Amino acid sequence: MNLLRTRIDLDAIAHNTRLVKDLVAPAELMAVVKADAYGHGADRVAKVMADNGADRFGVATIAEAVALTEHTELPVLAWIWSADEDLAEPLSRGVELGVPSLTHARALVDAAIPARVAVMADTGMHRSGIDEAHWEEAFTLLRDAEHLTVTGVFSHLACADEPQDPFTDAQAEVFRRAVALGRGLGLDLPINHLTNSPATLTRPDLYFDQVRPGLILYGLDPLPGDHGLTPAMTWAGDVVVVKPIKAGEGTSYSLTWRAEQDGYLAVIPCGYADGLPRRVQGALEVGIGGKLYPQVGRVCMDQIIVDLGENPYGVAQGDEAVLFGPGGMSAAELADMLGTINYEVACLPKGRTVRTYEGGL
Ligand SMILES: Cc1ncc(COP(=O)(O)O)c(C=O)c1O
Repeated sequence: MNLLRTRIDLDAIAHNTRLVKDLVAPAELMAVVKADAYGHGADRVAKVMADNGADRFGVATIAEAVALTEHTELPVLAWIWSADEDLAEPLSRGVELGVPSLTHARALVDAAIPARVAVMADTGMHRSGIDEAHWEEAFTLLRDAEHLTVTGVFSHLACADEPQDPFTDAQAEVFRRAVALGRGLGLDLPINHLTNSPATLTRPDLYFDQVRPGLILYGLDPLPGDHGLTPAMTWAGDVVVVKPIKAGEGTSYSLTWRAEQDGYLAVIPCGYADGLPRRVQGALEVGIGGKLYPQVGRVCMDQIIVDLGENPYGVAQGDEAVLFGPGGMSAAELADMLGTINYEVACLPKGRTVRTYEGGL
């Protein structure tokens, strides 16, 4: 029996995809489904995204791209790969590759396999991407290789989640220079893209030909405010035990928490082996039947304990307890509590967590 689950609402994925598609039109939408679609299951959500306006998919690794080609007809771009990798299989499956360095450009030229490639320009983040000093050489190499088709230039923004930060404009300026240089060297570069989720919400002037968001498609907001998104993921477990506790008695390892008055506890089968950080102790609130109850005592490997007080709403074994998502704390609230971001919270569930789906029919 599955006692712990992430439930993915495919209707929410559909809603968010349509919302983004309408927002950015006529720019195209590359839906980012790396890391198994931010923990939502790339095989299932990609189909829903494709049906609701995604034009292409973006992933990190070649392995992710190859797996995704089993589930979609749409083009898939991967941007993390080693220049030593055997490219025969991914390229024969039509995977498009981002070119993050001059070494990678040379590897694609030497592989002599027909491929679509996108030049990844470093515009200031100093992560993956070709440095400006090497742009001309890279564009020229790729242009002169008859087996290669250069689809465009892309780059990643470092500070888009702080909309006032002038660094985004500085990066955009460098990006425009890259596109102009490539076109000046005779490349068409029809599909250029720069914006991640926060910039897709705030910078329509930077859409170029395509946007490249991930987070917002899952209904998680990278910025304060309401952008009309619907969270798709709920992490929930079934209450496995409800038991009484008397005033002064303690619970869980080291009895770090003691009841102030007689009441009831509920046990939820989710622990740090399932991805719930031990440091949520005392700050997590679990949603049961639409009410929030404090988690108390140590987080164990396999379970946590929730204080039901006098249990006025009659929480019983088998009731669903929401760790985050609709009906519980939001991913953003849990992230704040943990000193992290909702991106990481979506990637927490693991261990005995089973993914289930609803909607999407
Ligand atoms: C290269 C690249 N493009 C796009 C994205 C999507 O970012 P977001 O989830 O903020 O939309 C990411 C995610 O980190 C990325 O690494």
